[in-house]
Amino acid sequence: MANDQVYYSKGFKKSVSDTHAWRTVDNSTKFITSVLRPDFKVLDVGCGPGSITVDLAKNYLNENGSVIGVEPTQELIDTANEFKNTAAPSLNNVKFQTGSIYELPFEDNTFDLVLAHQVIIHLQDPIKGLQELARVTKSGGYVAVKDADLESIIASPEKYELLRNYFVEKAKNAVSTDIKAGRTLREKAVKAGYKPDNITTSKSYWLLADDIEAKKQWVELTNNRIKNGGEVIYPNDEKKNEEVSNQVISKWEEWVNDETSLFNISHFEIVYKKPV
Ligand SMILES: C[S@@+](CC[C@H](N)C(=O)[O-])C[C@H]1O[C@@H](n2cnc3c(N)ncnc32)[C@H](O)[C@@H]1O
Repeated sequence: MANDQVYYSKGFKKSVSDTHAWRTVDNSTKFITSVLRPDFKVLDVGCGPGSITVDLAKNYLNENGSVIGVEPTQELIDTANEFKNTAAPSLNNVKFQTGSIYELPFEDNTFDLVLAHQVIIHLQDPIKGLQELARVTKSGGYVAVKDADLESIIASPEKYELLRNYFVEKAKNAVSTDIKAGRTLREKAVKAGYKPDNITTSKSYWLLADDIEAKKQWVELTNNRIKNGGEVIYPNDEKKNEEVSNQVISKWEEWVNDETSLFNISHFEIVYKKPV
């Protein structure tokens, strides 16, 4: 039986969810905009701190549309509500509630669009998760899923390879993170019973290169997460873990001040039209 919350397996850490709160529809889930309509009933599964959920409600849905963000634990629901109350206190077409992707608290065929952004990548049972997303989607509605492909991260110039390796090693040491989640998303969807002809696959990336402010924000959030997030790459060697963490923190500081540097994470996306 898959555990409901392996992402925060050692307990909720705000320094971790803070690294997700810069995400918007524009910078993270643009692939849904070709099918999204303003009157849609949307479900955002594994919504994290809720920045994408709130953006959807505020800028993409009208008073006939609505979005619900779901997370398995109350800390994330509280964090998302705080985000909403600060960013858009008067919005009334968004709400957050507890629930797991393995057993969503909704009837079959409820939503026009069901989104899971960077969630399948962290599941012990991704196939079951994908099946549950499709169950609560209306016939003729859409499931939209996007995951990073951590193995194909690029850190450049070569002297920053440690930054790439840290991401990959951290993922390998997590209770459940698939470093090839992006490239295997279509394969998993087909295994989950999604009809191949109804799947549209696309690819996008987060590229940190020219925008100095974006690079600074990334490094500030990432280094705070390394210091306070409790994530380890050498679980059995505390000293080595601290040593490498400090090296990575320094490398990010060097990288952010280097005009030649870039960091790229590729992602794969699928939009599935549930057959009528
Ligand atoms: C990398 S974060 C992505 C958060 C958000 N979708 C975003 O992109 O900002 C992955 C999220 O999946 C959530 N999650 C983990 N297991 C889950 C489950 N069984 N059901 C629903 N969400 C889950 C985690 O709590 C975490 O917030």
